[in-house]
Amino acid sequence: MQIAIDGPASSGKSTISKKIANMRGLLYLDTGAMYRVVTLAALQHKIDPSDEESVKQLLSQIKIHFETSDNGQLVFLNGENVTDTIRGNQVTNNVSAIAAQKLVREEMVKRQRDIAANHSIIMDGRDIGTVVLPDADLKVFLIATAEERANRRFKENQLRGIETDYRQLLEEIKHRDYLDSTRKESPLKKADDAIELDSTPLTIDQVVDTIVKWIDESN
Ligand code: C5P
Repeated sequence: MQIAIDGPASSGKSTISKKIANMRGLLYLDTGAMYRVVTLAALQHKIDPSDEESVKQLLSQIKIHFETSDNGQLVFLNGENVTDTIRGNQVTNNVSAIAAQKLVREEMVKRQRDIAANHSIIMDGRDIGTVVLPDADLKVFLIATAEERANRRFKENQLRGIETDYRQLLEEIKHRDYLDSTRKESPLKKADDAIELDSTPLTIDQVVDTIVKWIDESN
């Protein structure tokens, strides 16, 4: 069983995918975390994110692995727990430049397919339905208005005690969507055979229930 969940930034893909993975006993792979780890590694090595040659040389030195803990999924870069660091502003504001590079994408897609080959899996990202798993059993393109996505992120940050500016969040989300959907290599795009789901008016549970119903129907 292979399930592809794609969509723009902060559309709830990872929250929804994790819940469905738990309910249906699937492995969950957060492909965005992989691009974030590469970005962090480049920043740690003081490599300019647009310097493709240096990023290319770095790729072979980057080991990424995931572990499941009581607090959710942990992400490691060469054995170091980088779960929180990869969600910081510095990585978020540079990740689209790294993810636009052809060689970076080829390497990540290869790693993602290797993982998918041995598991029943739900993967979230931008190009899962179009490139990584073109034969997935179910493809969902999860959207919500930019305002709703910024609003959700703003509330999440508030709960974590992180001060953020709503307007700035909204601009960052729109900018990242623009970069991800206009890049040359595997842009953010709904696969022809994906089902679009607009989560703007829905609760998390309503989105999960809808997708689980589609999974059961596709079996
Ligand atoms: O999903 P998340 O917001 O963590 O993804 C971070 C970034 O990684 C995206 O903005 C995009 O540039 C890139 N990405 C991608 N392809 C994927 C997953 C993420 O290009 N499959």
